[in-house]
Amino acid sequence: MVEEKASSSDTQEDPIKLLVVEDDPAMLIAFQDVLKGAGFEVLSASNGEAALDLLGHTKPALILSDISMPIMDGYELFEAVRKQPGGASIPFIFLTARGTREDIFAGKSLGADDYITKPVTTQELLSAVRARLQRSDELMLAQLKHAYKDSLFVLANAIEARDSYTHAHMRRLSLYARALADQLEWDDARLEILEFGAILHDIGKIYIPESVLRKDSSLSDEEWVEMRKHPEVGALMIRDIPYLAPAIPLVLHHHERWDGDGYPAQLNGEEIPEGARLLAVADAFDAMTSDRPYRQAMPVDEAYTEIRNGSGKQFDPGIVQAMEKCWDSGEIHRIMDNSNKSSD
Ligand SMILES: [Fe+2]
Repeated sequence: MVEEKASSSDTQEDPIKLLVVEDDPAMLIAFQDVLKGAGFEVLSASNGEAALDLLGHTKPALILSDISMPIMDGYELFEAVRKQPGGASIPFIFLTARGTREDIFAGKSLGADDYITKPVTTQELLSAVRARLQRSDELMLAQLKHAYKDSLFVLANAIEARDSYTHAHMRRLSLYARALADQLEWDDARLEILEFGAILHDIGKIYIPESVLRKDSSLSDEEWVEMRKHPEVGALMIRDIPYLAPAIPLVLHHHERWDGDGYPAQLNGEEIPEGARLLAVADAFDAMTSDRPYRQAMPVDEAYTEIRNGSGKQFDPGIVQAMEKCWDSGEIHRIMDNSNKSSD
C-alpha cells in the first residue's frame, strides 16, 4: 500500500516541502532519502546562513536543523527564523547528537517544537515530522476558526449600524438558543453550527431598505414582501463560505412554522431543520420581550405564555418543552438579567 505516502502528502496535491539543515553530507543524504521516500519535497542547506538564504524565497512546511554547524548554528537559525515575517508559525525540529543533554535543554527552552536525537531511525524521523506537521495544521485550523468567528461578528454587526436592536438581540438570542440546546443535550459540533446560525440568522436584512427596517408603524404588504426575503438573501450570502455552509439551513428556515404557515419554503414539522426550529423559539421570545420601533416590549410572562400557546402551531413542541425547563430552572431570567446589566 501507499499508506506512507498518502498520510504525509496527498498524491493529488503538491508534495509538502521540508527544509533540512545539516552540515554532514552523509547525514543529509540519509535524511533526504527517508523524507523523499515518504513523499515529501526536501530542500537542503549546509548551515544556518544558507538556510536563511533559502527562506528568503520559499516557505517550507517544517524545518529540521542540526545544532552544531559552521557559520551559523541551529540555535541562531531558529532565532532568526522566528523573527522573520511568517517564520513564527514554521514548525522547527532540532537534530541533536545523542547524549548532549545541554543541547536538548537549550533547545527546549528556546521553545523548539521538538528535537530528535541522532542517530535516528526512519520511523522516529517520520513520526516526529508528521506529528509536528499535524500539530501545526491543528493550530492553523484553530486560528482560522477564530478569525472566521471574528469576521462573522463584524459582518453581523454591520447590520447593527442600521438596526440598533440587532446587536443586543443577536447576543441574547445566542444565549437563549444555547440554553435550549443544552437542555436537549446537543453535542459540540451542533452547538457550533447553532452559534453561527444565531449570529447570522438575520444577516440578509443588510439588503432591506433603511426605511423599512426603521419604520415605526406597521409594514405595508410590499414592505413585508421585502422583509420576508431576508432568510434567502442571508443563505445566499454565506453559501460560498464552506465553513459556514452547515449554518445555511438555520439561516434559511428560521421563519418556518411547525404548522407549515411560515416562510420561505412553508416546510412543516420535522421537515424544518431542528436548528431552525430551535432558533425560531429563541428568536420569537427575544423579539416579543424587546422594544421595537413600532411597539413596546411585551411583559416577559406574557411572552412565555405566547411561546407555550404556540406549541404545535408556530413552534416545535419538543423545543417548547425545553424552553419550559429553562424557564422553570430560572435560566431564561438569568440570561435576561445578565444581558440587561451588560447593555447598560
Ligand atoms: Fe429573521
